[in-house]
Amino acid sequence: MTQRKILITSALPYANGPIHLGHMLEYIQTDIWSRFQKARGHQCYYVCADDAHGTPIMLKAQQLGLTPEQMIAQTAKEHQADFAEFLIGFDNYHSTHSEENKQFASEIYTKLDQGGYIKRKTISQLFDPEKQMFLPDRFVKGDCPKCGTTDQNGDSCDSCGATYSPVELKNPRSVVSGATPVLKDSEHYFFDLPAFEQMLKDWTRSGSLQDEMANKLQEWFTEGLQQWDISRDAPYFGFEIPGAPGKFFYVWLDAPIGYLASFKNYCDKTGVNFDQFWQKDSEAEIYHFIGKDIIYFHSLFWPAMLDGAGYRKPTSVYAHGFVTVNGAKMSKSRGTFIKARTYLEHLNPEYLRYYFASKLTSNITDLDLNLEDFAQKVNADLVGKVVNIASRCASFISKKFDGKLSAEIVEPALLAEFTAAGETIAESFEKREFARAIREIMALADKANQYIDAKAPWVLAKNEATLTEAHLVCSMGINLFRVLMHYLKPVLPAMAKEVELFLNAELSWSTYQTALTNHSINVFKPLMQRVEMTKVEAMVEGSKENLQPTAAAPVANAAAEPKAAPAADSAASAIEPIGETISIDDFAKLDLRVARIINAEHVEGADKLVKLQLDLGNETRQVFAGIKSAYQPEQLIGRLTVMVANLAPRKMRFGMSEGMVMAAGPGGSDIFLLTPDDGATPGMRVK
Ligand code: 2FM
Ligand code: ZN
Repeated sequence: MTQRKILITSALPYANGPIHLGHMLEYIQTDIWSRFQKARGHQCYYVCADDAHGTPIMLKAQQLGLTPEQMIAQTAKEHQADFAEFLIGFDNYHSTHSEENKQFASEIYTKLDQGGYIKRKTISQLFDPEKQMFLPDRFVKGDCPKCGTTDQNGDSCDSCGATYSPVELKNPRSVVSGATPVLKDSEHYFFDLPAFEQMLKDWTRSGSLQDEMANKLQEWFTEGLQQWDISRDAPYFGFEIPGAPGKFFYVWLDAPIGYLASFKNYCDKTGVNFDQFWQKDSEAEIYHFIGKDIIYFHSLFWPAMLDGAGYRKPTSVYAHGFVTVNGAKMSKSRGTFIKARTYLEHLNPEYLRYYFASKLTSNITDLDLNLEDFAQKVNADLVGKVVNIASRCASFISKKFDGKLSAEIVEPALLAEFTAAGETIAESFEKREFARAIREIMALADKANQYIDAKAPWVLAKNEATLTEAHLVCSMGINLFRVLMHYLKPVLPAMAKEVELFLNAELSWSTYQTALTNHSINVFKPLMQRVEMTKVEAMVEGSKENLQPTAAAPVANAAAEPKAAPAADSAASAIEPIGETISIDDFAKLDLRVARIINAEHVEGADKLVKLQLDLGNETRQVFAGIKSAYQPEQLIGRLTVMVANLAPRKMRFGMSEGMVMAAGPGGSDIFLLTPDDGATPGMRVK
């Protein structure tokens, strides 16, 4: 096999918040892939960094009474401690607030400017006169310009789903100071993305992108590429744009450049040749693992920036879906918004590595961490199947044969079946079809256990005449176990290390085909404890946050720009005071009916809305409900709910809405549909 040169990255986490299990999916996926490539003997590097710039980071530091530098240094320590304990084997971990990144950002910008790809344009934006700063969309709140609901974000309305520009908000106020923002002009710098359309189309067709990614790009081409605003005015925590005092690079300009910076930092320390990886005609492979929410940045801006500045483009960008817990978005009030640190206080990181691996595919569907299934699967597969093979065979070899394996392999055909699977398992890992690899490995583990069951070495060992056979069977079992642990090593590196000590032999992808015969092993120690549900429950309890409404906690809850933070971050308040009262006559006017959700779909262009078809028994209604932050459409189909059936139909941007669905909760991921007890039938009156 020829040795490949491979550089792998995971998305850079923002330096203003802790790592949670949603993040961990990506780092675990990337780490397994990187460990697998290294095990196969390739020259492979895995680098990452903290994403340290931007308005939310600047404001959060102010709120904490720290300089941004102090805050990001503290976060960097916490992030790296979490990653290390989850066994994420970065070759280098750096920061976007680094000398290397400053150099690359200014070099790339200068080359883009020289190439004519930077345009200057004056734009008008909301400005906080008290704080003397321009306000990103998420830092402005006000009344929805369409339906008037108060306290809506600067870009969209939670109540009616309208999307708009922050300047359209009624009664706008700055989330930072509470002041009324004013419009102010400023010159901004734009990256000319449309100039790269043909290049990006060719890159998309190069065949190495996921289908979902290629389709998404196709949609964006059809909509038309836009100029990208890459500058921000002072005050801003970032790098000043060369030749433009008071103007800073927007955080998303220098964030992906952080991939180059971290790798350069590594190359300078180790002597690895940076240019061999990044120069235009490089034959090295470069892969970015990311979440599906940041595809735009990685598949349009980033390759275009690299191309315009004379660097090669990534070989591929691999996106994954989001983590849900127990079938719903992670929620702080339910205790399912679980920080990496909280998990580590209660559970073994390899449980999660295994569980994620057992469910990961190469596509971007969301992955559900069902906590009962998690415990059950880890216990059944790892403890009950894999470790069980070794624990059933080892003590006998230690006790009766002085720890020495037999000189002969008694069932060569069975062992050959195990080793022959290596190539298909490797192919599954290579294609990021980890779930498939795990299924194949577990099917072999079942076979090994069946073999041991059938031979019952514990019976053979009782009789002097069959002692040798017992030795042969147990040595066979240990060899089968050993092959499986080779395959599992990228997923379970710590357990693999224990196994290497126990077997007195290294597990590497080049050794699994040679059996261990006449070989001394060490005393077996339990390799993995069962997952205890009480610990899982304690972790959930430890993750519950008391979400009482607070008068002003704007900065901590403000999403990182430009996209919304995970929905759980926005669940700012739980219980609101009861508002204005209505008369019994008003109440009598409501016609509340049980309805069955017979279909639910995403609404193109609306972040919050789900389009529902409701069966009222004798008619169907179409309703747009702003509950997507809590439910994926497919989770809703078949459920019962209560609807206001006599609400006048409303024409929305996406179509007619013929009623309203009732739900409870503070918003974000905590919206609960009222699901009546079984026995309710569509059309039934509720009052
Ligand atoms: O979405 C995020 O969390 C960003 N901090 C990811 C940046 S990835 C890369 F471009 F730096
Ligand atoms: Zn509205």
